[in-house]
Amino acid sequence: MKIIVFGATGMVGQQIINEVIGHGHTAVAFGRNVFEELSTERKYLELFKGGLFSEGDIKSAMKGCDAVLSAIGGAIDGTDKARSLGMRKIISVMEKKGPKRIIAIGGLGVLNADEETYIYEKPDFPEKFKAVTSEHFQAFEALRSSSLDWTFLCPPDILDGGPTGEYNLSRNYPAEGKMKINAGDLADFMVNELKANEYLKCRVGIAGR
Ligand SMILES: NC(=O)c1ccc[n+]([C@@H]2O[C@H](COP(=O)([O-])OP(=O)(O)OC[C@H]3O[C@@H](n4cnc5c(N)ncnc54)[C@H](OP(=O)(O)O)[C@@H]3O)[C@@H](O)[C@H]2O)c1
Repeated sequence: MKIIVFGATGMVGQQIINEVIGHGHTAVAFGRNVFEELSTERKYLELFKGGLFSEGDIKSAMKGCDAVLSAIGGAIDGTDKARSLGMRKIISVMEKKGPKRIIAIGGLGVLNADEETYIYEKPDFPEKFKAVTSEHFQAFEALRSSSLDWTFLCPPDILDGGPTGEYNLSRNYPAEGKMKINAGDLADFMVNELKANEYLKCRVGIAGR
């Protein structure tokens, strides 16, 4: 498969690139700084310099791709709209004439605490994560109301480490386990899920063992 990776230069995105290529796929790394941050020499890796607020950039990069993986980031104070607006742009291009499958990263706050409450709505949810969670929530709502085959992976604290394969998963609720997860394990889940399609149209909780 040919898989486009948004947020490819980031902590999680670079792990996704490794997993995509490691599974024998071709990766298209999308971002503003791909030529500065990633190797131009790597086999099965194509670089596309582009910004998420340009549907033209996204459309050109997505040509010929079979699926989308996203680890879009940016400032967490709510001033950066890459997670929300960027996701809307990606969805818009996908719905017009693109691949149907997308797996994207959000955050823990977007999971359910109980049937009526999201985690970010709980009184003890940290103030400093409210703005970024609002960005993640808007991305989730855009995916939910799309016609795409989406999966929204909602991790707790992410550690800058490779895959261990030691993690638990849960549908729409936080998973049992440590409230920390390696970036490589997020990538491991995402690339495996592209084939398994076990978590279509739902959020996924993940926790280290
Ligand atoms: N860190 C944690 O503990 C934690 C916990 C839960 C959830 N998360 C979420 O996990 C996601 C990934 O986190 P991370 O730490 O891997 O992010 P990161 O290292 O900050 O990387 C962010 C990526 O997004 C890309 N990006 C941002 N704005 C863009 C734009 N306008 N156009 C194109 N690309 C853009 C950047 O590309 P360029 O700048 O190269 O263009 C970069 O590749 C984030 O949504 C974060 O909120 C993080």
